[in-house]
Amino acid sequence: MKELFLNVRENVELRKGVVKMRLFSAGLPEFKPGQFINISAGSFDGILLRRPISVFKHDGEAKTIEIVFEIKGRGTTFLSRLKGGDLPASLFAGNGFTVPDGVKSVALIGGGLGSPPLYSVIEKHRAKGVKFYTYLGFASESKTILTDDFAAVSEKLTVTTDDGSYGAGEKGFVTDALKRDVYAGAVKPDLILACGPPPMFGALKALKLNTPTFISVEARMGCGIGACYACACATVAGNRRVCTDGPVFKLEEVIL
Ligand SMILES: Cc1cc2nc3c(=O)[nH]c(=O)nc-3n(C[C@H](O)[C@H](O)[C@H](O)COP(=O)(O)OP(=O)(O)OC[C@H]3O[C@@H](n4cnc5c(N)ncnc54)[C@H](O)[C@@H]3O)c2cc1C
Ligand code: FES
Repeated sequence: MKELFLNVRENVELRKGVVKMRLFSAGLPEFKPGQFINISAGSFDGILLRRPISVFKHDGEAKTIEIVFEIKGRGTTFLSRLKGGDLPASLFAGNGFTVPDGVKSVALIGGGLGSPPLYSVIEKHRAKGVKFYTYLGFASESKTILTDDFAAVSEKLTVTTDDGSYGAGEKGFVTDALKRDVYAGAVKPDLILACGPPPMFGALKALKLNTPTFISVEARMGCGIGACYACACATVAGNRRVCTDGPVFKLEEVIL
């Protein structure tokens, strides 16, 4: 993992409270989809804050990455106000998602702000002929993000909203749409990759789809380098660190 300075090239509001940021580094290292950056998000009371944010897009030629984040507290508020400048960040952190050779069809399941890192999986593997069936779930129309981006690169995109307010989408949970398509044989994934809130993972587990499934887990972080166990995630093999052992784990191994 390298410690680099990232230069803020663009910072736009996608919708109220959600920001897309483009960052440049001349030394941008190799990247695996699902990895994250631990970026300096200001200094408060003499303490330098670092915040983990997933990579949405990675452009090795332009040496840029894009991140999409929700403004939650002081760190993300600080980031959302930047219009330029250099920020230290460790990149790329974590293990990331693997799409093994031979996999031809992947179902991607994104819940809300968990959706961005799934785009980078398609970006990396689409050229190899892997087909991606993407399911994105949001609470309501006003919370939807990145649907045009995913529609452009997915074999099929299904958008669900809990209240049915997104006109072009379906009413219900994202896992309901996946269940329907898999049970009907309309989608036959060799692999399922998911990122979203814990209840979504619980619903995914309950489907018992008998398909290898990997999830990207969120945790509050301390050191970000594997030393403090602040980010511990309970698994059948004991506590694992989200920052270095994860954030991607096998669904069946995580205790939800
Ligand atoms: C590997 C990883 C990747 C992530 N990728 C993204 C991403 O792509 N986009 C994005 O919007 N967010 C992402 N997050 C979450 C993001 O790191 C937090 O929202 C951010 O750290 C909040 O910092 P803050 O200083 O603004 O808020 P804080 O002041 O630290 O927190 C404000 C409130 O938000 C809640 N909160 C903050 N962080 C978390 C968390 N990790 N889990 C549960 N509740 C939390 C708490 O209720 C807290 O009181 C990711 C987290 C991890 C671990
Ligand atoms: S944040 Fe310290 S071990 Fe993960």
